[in-house]
Amino acid sequence: MRSLVIYYSHRGNTAYVARAFFEALKKKGDTDIFELKYIGGEGLFTRILCRLMPSRTQLATIPLDLGGYDLLCLGIPVIGGFPSSAITKYIQTFSNINGKKIICCYIYGVEASAEHCSHYIEKLVRNKGNPEIINVFVPWYDVLKENFLENIISKTILKVA
Ligand SMILES: Cc1cc2nc3c(=O)[nH]c(=O)nc-3n(C[C@H](O)[C@H](O)[C@H](O)COP(=O)(O)O)c2cc1C
Repeated sequence: MRSLVIYYSHRGNTAYVARAFFEALKKKGDTDIFELKYIGGEGLFTRILCRLMPSRTQLATIPLDLGGYDLLCLGIPVIGGFPSSAITKYIQTFSNINGKKIICCYIYGVEASAEHCSHYIEKLVRNKGNPEIINVFVPWYDVLKENFLENIISKTILKVA
């Protein structure tokens, strides 16, 4: 199984979870990992511009064609009830997702908000094709709790590998 892990992180929690998924997926086959970055800086202005006018911002080079992968794991920070704009932009630009497995891993503080964010992402993804979506919800305050993440990751990987 060839996997790709893509994430964006403001404060490090999503980065931590994404790297944990990366380590677990590596045991199942070739796995690449990329952190989304904006060309021209990560400031608030860029992020707002990306949310309002995604075509005016650009992400640093990352794999957009998922043709060579079986699985994509997206590390998604929930901010204001929505994914970080870089994640939205990535989904709007990726391709060849039909028949792929996509783990959408939400790092959140408020359950209802993460739920809202997952519906938003599902619509974005379905606009681009028809992959199998596996949702994973990780409260940010549990990220470092002993065994919590390991349990979630191993259960998720059992479903996809
Ligand atoms: C400005 C700000 C807004 C946030 N808004 C939400 C929200 O609407 N819903 C939610 O569930 N969590 C919210 N959170 C909590 C984040 O999801 C949490 O801090 C998470 O760790 C962010 O991922 P990161 O550490 O990778 O940046 C917010 C956090 C910040 C700093």
